[in-house]
Amino acid sequence: MDKFVINGGKKLTGDVKISGAKNAILPIMTAALLAKGKSIFHNVPHLNDIKMMAHVLRVLGARVEYENETLSIDTTYADYYEAPYELVSKMRASIYVLGPLLARCGKARVSFPGGCAIGTRPVDLHLKVMEALGAKIEIEHGYINATCENLKGAKIRFEKVSVGATANAIMAAVLASGITNLYNVAKEPEIGSLIDCLILMGAKIKGKDTSHLKITGVKELQPIETEMMPDRIEAGTFLIAGAITGSRISISNCVPEHIQSLSDRLIQTGCKLNIGKRKVEIIPPSKILPVNIVTYPYPDFPTDLQAQFMALMTLSEGESRIEDTIFPDRLMHVAELNRLDADISLEKHVAVVSGVNSLSGAMVMATDLRASAALVLAGLAAEGETTISRIYHIDRGYDKIEVKLQKLGADIVRIKG
Ligand code: EPZ
Repeated sequence: MDKFVINGGKKLTGDVKISGAKNAILPIMTAALLAKGKSIFHNVPHLNDIKMMAHVLRVLGARVEYENETLSIDTTYADYYEAPYELVSKMRASIYVLGPLLARCGKARVSFPGGCAIGTRPVDLHLKVMEALGAKIEIEHGYINATCENLKGAKIRFEKVSVGATANAIMAAVLASGITNLYNVAKEPEIGSLIDCLILMGAKIKGKDTSHLKITGVKELQPIETEMMPDRIEAGTFLIAGAITGSRISISNCVPEHIQSLSDRLIQTGCKLNIGKRKVEIIPPSKILPVNIVTYPYPDFPTDLQAQFMALMTLSEGESRIEDTIFPDRLMHVAELNRLDADISLEKHVAVVSGVNSLSGAMVMATDLRASAALVLAGLAAEGETTISRIYHIDRGYDKIEVKLQKLGADIVRIKG
């Protein structure tokens, strides 16, 4: 297994171009199943999760090709309807095939996604939606067996905001007969991006970026060619890289309004931000002020930046409290950050971070995608050498992060395992 070796304490300088958004691309890849033919997507980064989703689609009979950040998906012969345990257990987002397969084939057999380092990750909301649209759901031997001759429009209110269940519901409803009203939906930009793609394919969806979507079912959808939106979590991760190393850097090809909640908190820590149309420059203060964080669905502070912001708070001038209401157990990075001489204690699900003057390099282990990003950020600031093992976690969601950081002047190398 590969690992990173970082010599911390270096200032960064320059600009980093943000890649396409993993969490927008994954549902859009399965949405390609809603049309027969070849869809083409540009600005697709080289990520393991995207490779894994391509593998799932190939198992379903689609022809998937990827070259130079362009992904093509030809679903002409995608007539299979089972997503096997071997693949789904490796990537929870495989559940996104459920809605499209029901809409396309009238049936789906999807392995129950396992839990992961950030929590149990249930899919009950996904299943409730499909039943509301007329599907029969049976669970046996760890598989979801869903059947439905014709999905019928329905009125559905989500008991909890769920990005994945919202995506699955939209993808099932666009080809259902009649009208579907979805209430209390997720408003993440990735959902907006999925809606834009589906409308381009011929879907009828009203209410984008609001809590209520009205979907009028159509008979069929067409394949499309389009460009993927920038990754707001990668953008936020690099802004925090500037803040934690006290470096004036900029990020480009981003959507500043997608990271407004992070920008607000960075300004509270004393950072100055120069915000352009698709660019943000960060100018950190000499000393970072403590800021409390509670994560909530978009547009509030995202759970996917919680670990990275905690890394920053380990070097603040005081005490900050961090709570993740989306994934309360998403705290695996606490123990690893403490190995770098951070001072973080847990009060139930709240991390109490007492700022220290400096972190010191050590051997640490990545446990999940965003926790590993937090360890990289802490390693960049720590004095001495930090070795991070199991960095396959980071390759799931960041495209060659070490190359982008090297270009900013960081001393980080990947050691092939
Ligand atoms: C998506 O996961 C993202 N993944 C996650 O990013 C992100 O952290 C999460 O949304 C929240 O923003 C992708 O887009 C591929 P949810 P998802 O359904 O859809 C509960 C990353 O690092 N819930 O919005 O699985 C759930 O337990 C990943 O890129 C149910 O109870 O998240 C959580 O408490 C990690 N039942 C809350 O809802 C369900 O059926 C929100 O989860 C589904 C979810």
